[in-house]
Amino acid sequence: MKNKLTLLFALTLIFACNVPRQATDIKEEVKEVIVEETNAPDVSSTSPDFPFTTNKVLMGEKAMVVSAHPLASEVGLEILRKGGNAVDAAVAVQFALAVVYPAAGNIGGGGFMVIRHADGTNTTLDYREKAPLAAHRDMYLDKKGDAVAELSRRGHLAVGVPGAVAGMIQANAQHGLLPFASLVKPSIRLAKHGFALTEREAKRLNGQQEEFTKYNSHTTPYHGTWKTGDIIVQADLADVLQRIYDNGFDGFYGGKTADLIVAEMKSGGGIITHEDLKKYKAVWREPIVSEYKEYNIISMPPPSSGGIVLSQLLNMIEPYPVSEWGFQSTKSVHLITEAERRAYADRAEHMGDSDFYEVPVNQLIEKEYATKRMANFDPKKATLSSAISAGKVLEESEETTHFSIVDVQGNAVSVTTTLNSGYGSKVVVKGAGFLLNNEMDDFSAKPGVPNLFGLVGGEANAIEPEKRMLSSMTPTIIEKNNELYMVVGTPGGSTIITSVFQTFINVAEYGLPLKDAVHNPRFHHQWLPDKIFIENDAISQEERATLEKMGHQIEKRGYIGRVEAILIYPDGKLEGVADIRGDDSAAGL
Ligand code: GLY
Repeated sequence: MKNKLTLLFALTLIFACNVPRQATDIKEEVKEVIVEETNAPDVSSTSPDFPFTTNKVLMGEKAMVVSAHPLASEVGLEILRKGGNAVDAAVAVQFALAVVYPAAGNIGGGGFMVIRHADGTNTTLDYREKAPLAAHRDMYLDKKGDAVAELSRRGHLAVGVPGAVAGMIQANAQHGLLPFASLVKPSIRLAKHGFALTEREAKRLNGQQEEFTKYNSHTTPYHGTWKTGDIIVQADLADVLQRIYDNGFDGFYGGKTADLIVAEMKSGGGIITHEDLKKYKAVWREPIVSEYKEYNIISMPPPSSGGIVLSQLLNMIEPYPVSEWGFQSTKSVHLITEAERRAYADRAEHMGDSDFYEVPVNQLIEKEYATKRMANFDPKKATLSSAISAGKVLEESEETTHFSIVDVQGNAVSVTTTLNSGYGSKVVVKGAGFLLNNEMDDFSAKPGVPNLFGLVGGEANAIEPEKRMLSSMTPTIIEKNNELYMVVGTPGGSTIITSVFQTFINVAEYGLPLKDAVHNPRFHHQWLPDKIFIENDAISQEERATLEKMGHQIEKRGYIGRVEAILIYPDGKLEGVADIRGDDSAAGL
């Protein structure tokens, strides 16, 4: 026992000094300390060996979790093994990602959860951030009335009131089986004892050092020169998670954590108060359910634009023989681009938080409306975006993260959660060790002025106290002939909706195996700027030349999306596919 205590003391010292160490040096020691703790779960089942093996394609008989990090997927699976359902697993994965994937996993941000129960009923949970009470329409304008992008994108004023913790408590209380605290526990362990950094995460942290220094007056747990396999320990975050474990809502929105958040705000010119935190509530909302051929698409309603735009895109392409035209053929790319151009123009004009602005949801998702919008579609020629405005009815590095889960009973959960851009506002709450979002940039700071993702907006998405900023997050569950068929979602800012859309039609229309549907290169158009963005080889040179002759402008860019998908076969088998664009990994039973 004495030896164990000495070891614990030594490890504490090492961690306190925040000295990066190699995973191999430390793994056995950490294991030894962890098993000494009362009631600690067996770490071996939730800590795959480093370097992590990522399962990009995995078949399961009973259950599946696909997320952006192998440790988070393992945490989700562990909860399912212990008798938790898909909602419990989702809650545990949300907390785990807050530790192991700080670029987008979060407790300082928000997100959306779409649930389809095994009996076919469904619901969605909105735990999106809200504008603080002191927010106002012109808060990001200078004296001349020009929008100052820096203010809504970085630092304390960019932060919306976080919703993730309230969301997880609500989800568990309404639809979970296991006690809430048991879902937080694996993350306390990961934060306290550390985990090994992947090459990708180490590089990304190194790339953020200047920003962490610029927006924090203290040394954050992310400061350092990191290399693959270094153990990162987040002691303050472990304490916050412990307070959430002990006190639930009050562990985050009250007491010491709330004091630390408010102090952090005051120190950097932020406006979130104790009252903002205390008032935060997650909201259950009716999903957007649209029919496409033999499929029902269950997705997120406002304040996300995801469900509506996805439905519009499907309605607009439905009359055309896209499966005959083939995957990424000139005709398909042209049609889809024209549909995207029109749907994103509608997004800019008509979509915002429906608690504050009357979003004409029913009209936008009608099939007849789609027919009218496509009436001027020319199969031979691109329409200029300047010639398209919103139909008359009566943006990040694009970080965000998605996870898809199906449990043994057949319940399905699709969650997309975010800090907005990578590492959010870059502000880490002093003494609490977690990053705060920069979600305020998803509002329209000024009509027509593009946000981080190049998205424009107007009245519908103007800033108001307690309003939720418009999102593109599109966690989606799809039924085929009324049976569970696919769970899908992705990060990617404005490209989220088009990536979910393409993944679905890649399978449903082009007949691609799920692996190719997820891993193949994608393309994206969002009305403005008037360009088709393509991943490297999404379109051949020949096709590109043809599309350019038709009037399209095409630009290569980096990754589009990081899709996590599960396909459910008629015999009940599950195929989990994690994107190759990151460290993403599937874990299954
Ligand atoms: N912050 C990205 C989104 O919600 O669309």
